[in-house]
Amino acid sequence: MVKYLEAIRKELDYAYQVEMPQMDDWTEIDIQPVIRKLLVRIIGKMIVGNPACRSEEWLHLGEHFTEDFVAASIIMRLLPKWLHPMITNILPQRWRLRKGLQKTRDIVDPAVLRHEEANKKRARGEKVDEEDSMLNWVIDNAGKDQVLKILPEIVLVMFVPAAHTTAMAISNVLFDLCSHPEWAEKLRAEVTDVTNEFGLLGEKLPVRDWTGKLEFLDSFFQESQRMSQPISITPNRYAYEEVIFKDGLRIPKGALVGFVAVHNQIDPEIAPNPEVFDPTRCLRKRQSSPEERDKHLAGQPSKENFAFGYGSQACPGRNYAVAVLKMVLSRMLVDYEFKFKPGDSKPKKYHLMEFIIPDPTATLMMRKRK
Ligand code: HEM
Repeated sequence: MVKYLEAIRKELDYAYQVEMPQMDDWTEIDIQPVIRKLLVRIIGKMIVGNPACRSEEWLHLGEHFTEDFVAASIIMRLLPKWLHPMITNILPQRWRLRKGLQKTRDIVDPAVLRHEEANKKRARGEKVDEEDSMLNWVIDNAGKDQVLKILPEIVLVMFVPAAHTTAMAISNVLFDLCSHPEWAEKLRAEVTDVTNEFGLLGEKLPVRDWTGKLEFLDSFFQESQRMSQPISITPNRYAYEEVIFKDGLRIPKGALVGFVAVHNQIDPEIAPNPEVFDPTRCLRKRQSSPEERDKHLAGQPSKENFAFGYGSQACPGRNYAVAVLKMVLSRMLVDYEFKFKPGDSKPKKYHLMEFIIPDPTATLMMRKRK
């Protein structure tokens, strides 16, 4: 995935111009949809490429498919299984999901044709100006005949876990920054120092290396994620066979096993004074000894941190998510100032089964930096 970061960097320039509010004075902004739209565009660039990722169909689908997907899964799980065959046909979210799949077909088909044309030209030895996308990669590597029928599903399975999670993480960092404005200058200074030393993002260093230099932002994000983890129970696993542990604990075949990931986030043995927002927590751990130097980084699953899952099925997009988050935030920090409206504080969190989302109506105040 990391190879797509360069393409994303360029698309961010465009998305930023289109989506970011422009104002010189403090203005109340409904920030979560703004960030979501940015993410739908840039993740779309990686998955379906241009021009599909800029089309109205993609933008609409990108914003709403995940919401319907999660809502439908929650509703279905709340209902007894015997009701499912009846409910599945009358649930509006399910209709919209089916329509979404059809729309994705309309987006994907022309992209497949374009890629086929490009491949033909390549085979004739002609020069081709085609940007890489995950869709092209799937067609070339999984065998077109096997995947053509289910390409819309593949595209959406790549998209659903990517955009809204990363957008929510960025919004949470901004809300935490408004709650703790004393850290804003340190965050900005780090971006400025990295820019002075290594040029603008992607100018002298590849995106992954440039964003890797933002160690304090990394630590700030991890603290924000600790306080606002988006999934309370993760990893989740399905027992394909019965397992009996040494102490006699039996996990029957077919059982779902989930870890209460949020518990780690409030365990004082893992995070002393867990109620305190301390954005230097991970940085200090890293600086505590040479052995710890390469640990405690965002996107590194460990038994102390299940935010991106754990083991062989840990989130495959985690490093990419962290790089994208830093790419977006480093730019916003330099361009804008943020604060809460007088009387506002960190938005409430809503728990929808295992999902934890910030209050969708929460806003913040922004103005362009002079
Ligand atoms: C801050 C953003 C993100 C968070 C917090 C997050 C979190 C998670 C978690 C907790 C899991 C379950 C892991 C497990 O069961 O061990 C997961 C799985 C997954 N994530 Fe992410 N994720 C994020 C961003 C992304 C991005 C950007 C992508 C793709 C570009 C992505 C793709 C996936 C996929 C495909 C899976 C399923 C993996 C499997 O079942 O084998 N995620 N993610």
